[in-house]
Amino acid sequence: MDTADANANPQATAVTTQTTVVETGGPSGEPIIVSDYEALAAQRVERTAWDYYRSGADDEVTLRANRAAFERWRFRPRVLVDVSKIDTTTTVLGTPVSMPILVAPTAYHCLAHEEGECATARAAGRAATIMTLSTLATRNIEDVADAATGLLWFQLYVYKDRAVSEMLIRRVEKKGYRALVLTVDTPRLGNRDRDRRNGFALPPHLRMAHFSSDDPNQTDIETRKSVVGTSGLARQAATMFDASLTWEAVDWLRSITNLPILVKGILTGEDAALAVEHGVKGVIVSNHGGRQLDGSLATLEALPEVVAAVNGRVEVILDGGIRRGTDVLKALALGARAVQVGRPILWGLAARGEEGVAHVLEILRAELELAMTLAGRPTLASIDASLVQRAP
Ligand code: GLV
Repeated sequence: MDTADANANPQATAVTTQTTVVETGGPSGEPIIVSDYEALAAQRVERTAWDYYRSGADDEVTLRANRAAFERWRFRPRVLVDVSKIDTTTTVLGTPVSMPILVAPTAYHCLAHEEGECATARAAGRAATIMTLSTLATRNIEDVADAATGLLWFQLYVYKDRAVSEMLIRRVEKKGYRALVLTVDTPRLGNRDRDRRNGFALPPHLRMAHFSSDDPNQTDIETRKSVVGTSGLARQAATMFDASLTWEAVDWLRSITNLPILVKGILTGEDAALAVEHGVKGVIVSNHGGRQLDGSLATLEALPEVVAAVNGRVEVILDGGIRRGTDVLKALALGARAVQVGRPILWGLAARGEEGVAHVLEILRAELELAMTLAGRPTLASIDASLVQRAP
């Protein structure tokens, strides 16, 4: 309905208004879709923490582009296919999962909910999917492993002092984490204006949980100091992360651990090919949720060239902007083995703790199942590039 119609017919205007209400939750406000959880979380999370979660870098062009990219692909649904049974099960790096939707690493879950990463891990287990725990977590490697009911991967930053990274690896090996996700797009932290204005820092009751209070390196000290004009995390990254890192770091990791390695933060075919040459088992197409280099490609835009460069040799996962089951289906059609979901998990956690995260994952699963049904693609194996075409 266009505006002219609405003005000519007052009843039509009322319908429009009512539709808006329905679109932001059920009649009593219960969350129905992923973005309902965003609205709920926005009311519950303290403002500087909310700004930290929601921000992209600079003018947030890439943050928006991640979402917009999904709208530039359209489905070519097939009909009269038996879709009475839909199967979303798959494997990722050989591990069975109930659906191609995984929990991305995100920082500081205790800013959303007091049980933090432990609640997220329980919810991921309930959904029979994999959660990647962040180096920047507020619950530690051991506690999260003990709470988890499913499988865990660990996201790694390589520190200037490699002994710090090695210490983390030994702990995750001991606790049965299944893979290392090396983030490669963060030699320094991207520029997030809100965090600088807020002097973003962890509140006094929280700390980066993998690093104990008697850590001689004081690895997380900057993240706990608020200085207006800078982000504590950006200062911490500038002091501790190794900006001289090259592909040699992947070789080094492979020499010290048998855990499979995925690299996260790949946006080009060139880097995807190098990742394969250096023996990684998976490539994660990611621009860090639009939080690093603003103006970078949207992840869905980068996916086809990464898939082509990898050419089936390793698995390709995509994150960035997944809010709907149809987004997942488009990513799979363009060659992703699975997707990872970041901010929506934090929204679920902030709104309702473990239940909220479990519900967000169930919403995405149900939407993916319905999208597969309507697209005439009952199994993941039946999804291929012929399912999508670029919008005119
Ligand atoms: C941490 O990885 C962040 O993006 O803030």
